[in-house]
Amino acid sequence: MTEAVRKVPYTTTNAGIPVESDEHSLTVGDTGPILLQDHYLIEKMAQFNRERVPERVVHAKGSGAYGVFEVTNDISQFTKADLFQPGKRTEMLARFSTVAGEQGSPDTWRDPRGFALKFYTEYGNYDLVGNNTPVFFVRDPQKFQDFIRSQKRRPDNGLRDNNMQWDFWTLSPESAHMVTWLMGDRGIPKTYRNMNGYSSHTYMWVNGGGEKFWVKYHIKTDQGIDFLTQSEADELAGTDGDIHRRDLFDSIASGNAPSWTMHVQVMPFEDAPDYRFNPFDLTKVWPHGDYPLIEVGRMTLNKNPDDFFVHIEQAAFEPSNMVPGIGPSPDKMLLGRLFSYPDTHRYRIGPNYAQLPPNRPRSPVNSYAKDGPMRYEPANTGAVYAPNSYGGPAADVGTFGEPAGWHAAGEMVREAYKLHREDDDWRQPGTMVREVLDDAARERLVSNVSAHLTAGVSRPILDRAFQYWRNIDKELGDRIANRVNGS
Ligand code: NDP
Ligand code: HEM
Repeated sequence: MTEAVRKVPYTTTNAGIPVESDEHSLTVGDTGPILLQDHYLIEKMAQFNRERVPERVVHAKGSGAYGVFEVTNDISQFTKADLFQPGKRTEMLARFSTVAGEQGSPDTWRDPRGFALKFYTEYGNYDLVGNNTPVFFVRDPQKFQDFIRSQKRRPDNGLRDNNMQWDFWTLSPESAHMVTWLMGDRGIPKTYRNMNGYSSHTYMWVNGGGEKFWVKYHIKTDQGIDFLTQSEADELAGTDGDIHRRDLFDSIASGNAPSWTMHVQVMPFEDAPDYRFNPFDLTKVWPHGDYPLIEVGRMTLNKNPDDFFVHIEQAAFEPSNMVPGIGPSPDKMLLGRLFSYPDTHRYRIGPNYAQLPPNRPRSPVNSYAKDGPMRYEPANTGAVYAPNSYGGPAADVGTFGEPAGWHAAGEMVREAYKLHREDDDWRQPGTMVREVLDDAARERLVSNVSAHLTAGVSRPILDRAFQYWRNIDKELGDRIANRVNGS
């Protein structure tokens, strides 16, 4: 057939060589042995055997899309970060996920949702890797691995186990705020489009004059918050486990691009030491009354990936990707995460993961990295070391400023944060239960917790769980205990 009448391209090997057949192996006679020289068959089998990279150790099931972030307010007095300057438009990638489930797990399991953003700024990638919750279960990275094991599968029977979850939570009172959140309506969003994102952590912002601020990000859905009840979610888990992935993809494909409005709470740098509780404690929010939300801009997701594996599975978010004008805070969890993500990417995807399409910056890369498996971008030509006399890149502190940091000194210790006067694990979840939830939401919370505790939680963990909820709110704890005890 001539090229003019062909409707599809011709099949090739990975080396671009036209293949002889899409369907038949090369054999000696039609019943004969298969020949080793059937390079194309062998390439297909071998490639197939290597199709998977390990799934993410957490947040394995996720969905994502590309989009754009547009600044709608002038907040340049707080940060010099290029992407937050007035009128700026920055291309971006978002990935939403559940935490404990595996790649094939249902989207509607009760779980926090990951809310990972990558902004392709003029000065490198800025990754804001948050959740749909403003707080977290633990406040020290030492406990993260243990926490996750308690939520995933048991080593003996491979099953998830509510007893293990409540054992860890009730022995870790700092989890109370996040568990209250998780067991409430927001623990199962209706779709990814109907949830907020939060940095959860406090970060540092630095303005053009070198002034420092502490900030928390709130990325509020423009579609409105909506949720699934436990029974709706249970049913969907059986009938359409990919419903959130489908919803995001179909919305964007049909031109219904979802958007979120980004806000920040800004705390003056000097307020932190004497604030009523530790402002870097990831288990606490800053009340809106103390630090109101300030609008920053809008993100719109308007482009589906054309290859899920390439763009979403290989996406590598890392909280350590902070651009000039943004820095970390003394939040120990955040400091732990700065190590963890690039480390897991080197294992999961490979050391040159930053060159892959979703991860490669849209700004110049002048690093001194070279070689390693699967590298395809050349290292700097000329000098491959610094300092050098041959015009290789040189750090420009004059333009980009000193590191965003704070004064730290002291003995080496293994201790919790120094206590502030309102550092307490029960107060904020108690406020949520009493002042934020209405009667119907409180009843759903009681019902969700009671059902969870009834499914395989045994004494003495059960009694500790009742006390845990009574510490949050006496009446709520009594209702849960009565419900579980059948009285
Ligand atoms: P506000 O009344 O100003 O804020 C309460 C916030 O609670 C709302 O703005 C909303 O956050 C969030 N919310 C509403 N319904 C639910 C729900 N069902 N589950 C979880 N969150 C919900 O009071 P404060 O700022 O003083 O905070 C009071 C309590 O509210 C806190 O102790 C905390 O538990 C919770 N909260 C506070 C947030 C904060 O950053 N200050 C953020 C979220 C919750 P949103 O507008 O982000 O949707
Ligand atoms: C994913 C570690 C706390 C949000 C991951 C991954 C690791 C990890 C190893 C897998 C990354 C990958 O394979 O691509 C940790 C550690 C933590 C911590 C060590 C604490 C010390 C948090 C917190 C948040 C968070 C507090 C939210 C505020 C996420 C998100 C993802 C993720 C959103 C998925 C990113 C994506 O979509 O690819 N985490 N995590 N994590 N984590 Fe954490």
